[in-house]
Amino acid sequence: MIRLDGTKVAADLQAELTQTAAGLREQGIVPGLAVILVGNDPASKVYVGRKEKMAEKIGIKNFAYTLADDTTEQQLLELIDQLNQNDQVDGILVQLPLPDQIDEQKILQAIDPAKDVDSFHPENVGKLMQGLPGPKPCTPNGIMKLLAAYDIPIEGKHAVIIGRSNIVGKPMAHLLLEQNATVTITHSRTKNLAELTKQADIVVVAIGRPNYLTGEMIKDGAIVIDVGINRLEKKLVGDVDFENVAEKAGYLTPVPGGVGPMTIIMLMVNTIKACRLRRTP
Ligand code: GUN
Repeated sequence: MIRLDGTKVAADLQAELTQTAAGLREQGIVPGLAVILVGNDPASKVYVGRKEKMAEKIGIKNFAYTLADDTTEQQLLELIDQLNQNDQVDGILVQLPLPDQIDEQKILQAIDPAKDVDSFHPENVGKLMQGLPGPKPCTPNGIMKLLAAYDIPIEGKHAVIIGRSNIVGKPMAHLLLEQNATVTITHSRTKNLAELTKQADIVVVAIGRPNYLTGEMIKDGAIVIDVGINRLEKKLVGDVDFENVAEKAGYLTPVPGGVGPMTIIMLMVNTIKACRLRRTP
């Protein structure tokens, strides 16, 4: 089994982006990323902290907003409006989930699509579906980059995705289709799920159930991508039963150190791209 080392691939991309950011700085352009966290979700705090730190390392100016749990929808919309108009801000990210009083869709639709570095705005989702140029969502695109870094061909492969979220499962299907995979999306109501995963050349697991995918559910040599991050009492585990699946898989992402670092670095890729598109001729 070959470990798909997201930490290493992300570090290589980080070095490239640092150079690109330095080049922009020489032209007097400092890429800017606004990261908005609403409330006190401990996992979200950790993710946001990592994003902000990475931005700083690369030379992206970080505009950090930590808002109280009882922030109103109107207050958040006003902040987004200000950031849409702020020329120093190239990317706007609102960490999800949001507290119940805020309509997530309303917020995502308020972000200027040109600054939508998560690629959650319906305009960018539509572009992805139609294969038009635009930002690509960070986690699925990070997975594609990780597969490419290991020269894993996609064309003609049967990819089975477990999970149909807007953040991972659905966009993942489109990116794999774009590269001519045959794609099956499965979810919590799928019957006989293991029969499908056993046929898969590539399995992407994103359902948020610790150690869900076991060795009996895959075929020999399968490429297994674990998007899960589950906090058990003492440790962090993915949606894949790592030791068990490792005996049978051809390639496997670890948790931590697989998909997570790729998600963060793709956010930086999208921010630099958005900056270039908006501010360079
Ligand atoms: N919550 C979980 N994953 C993500 C992500 O990729 N972006 C944002 N904004 N929130 C998330």
